Amino acid sequence: MQVVRGIAELRDVLSGSKTTSLVPTMGNLHEGHLSLVRSARSHGGPVVASIFVNRLQFAPHEDFDSYPRTFERDCELLRGAGCDLVFAPGERDLYPEPQGYKVHPPAELGDILEGEFRAGFFIGVCTVVLKLFNAVQPRVAVFGKKDFQQLMVIRAMVRQLALPVEIVAGETERAPDGLALSSRNGYLSPAERADAVELSRSLAGLRDAVLAGERDLPRLEAAAAAGLCARGWQPDYLTVRRCHDLLAPLASQIDQGAALVVLGAAKLGTTRLIDNLEFSQPLQPQVA
Ligand code: PAF
Repeated sequence: MQVVRGIAELRDVLSGSKTTSLVPTMGNLHEGHLSLVRSARSHGGPVVASIFVNRLQFAPHEDFDSYPRTFERDCELLRGAGCDLVFAPGERDLYPEPQGYKVHPPAELGDILEGEFRAGFFIGVCTVVLKLFNAVQPRVAVFGKKDFQQLMVIRAMVRQLALPVEIVAGETERAPDGLALSSRNGYLSPAERADAVELSRSLAGLRDAVLAGERDLPRLEAAAAAGLCARGWQPDYLTVRRCHDLLAPLASQIDQGAALVVLGAAKLGTTRLIDNLEFSQPLQPQVA
């Protein structure tokens, strides 16, 4: 497995491959990332994983400086998962000058949910992902569904800018208790780690209430947030949305089996966790 730092060298090594698959990461890898690498392998062609902690997607008060950098371990894991090449640019390789040109996702997708609580986050994500696509020129890029909104924002960017890359989604990997794997789980104290699964439990409770026929979403969402608050969490949002545009569904759309996703973000201590669950209401059999 080769490690490459610069864009020119990367292009040299890949020498115009038209079948490259890319797994973009910020390092501190876990099983979730490795399953994306294995998915990338199934597409044939060389598999590139990028490791770059992207300053542009962190707000000044966020954890850019303390974000875990575990490069040697990441490389070992990637080698074991069958990655062919690690693209690990330094900041000067990817941002040799201040990044004046940036990708601004439309507000209706980029400024809601994560975008509401992390101003500028998706501008930073889209800008670096577009740059990584231009550097690697992959035919396929694999992103995890754990960052559901990020996946949607990137799919929309690829579609609207006609980028020649197929976006493939990887399922969320979970710990045995149900906690979604995340690089930020490492910030949790043992007591917080024991409670961390409550976010996905709250989302499951919200989903189950909808499946049981409840349709007053604002009431259900407020109750789910209050439940987390009572355990000492600080929720940003817990909400049921339509999968295709992340808007709130009408009761009739739920009844008609629209694809839905319940998404949540909440802080436990100083650690902000996100998770989501997709579902849809099974259609009632028609009575003659
Ligand atoms: O999901 C991530 O790890 C990052 O947002 C990404 C896609 C690698 C861009 O920096």
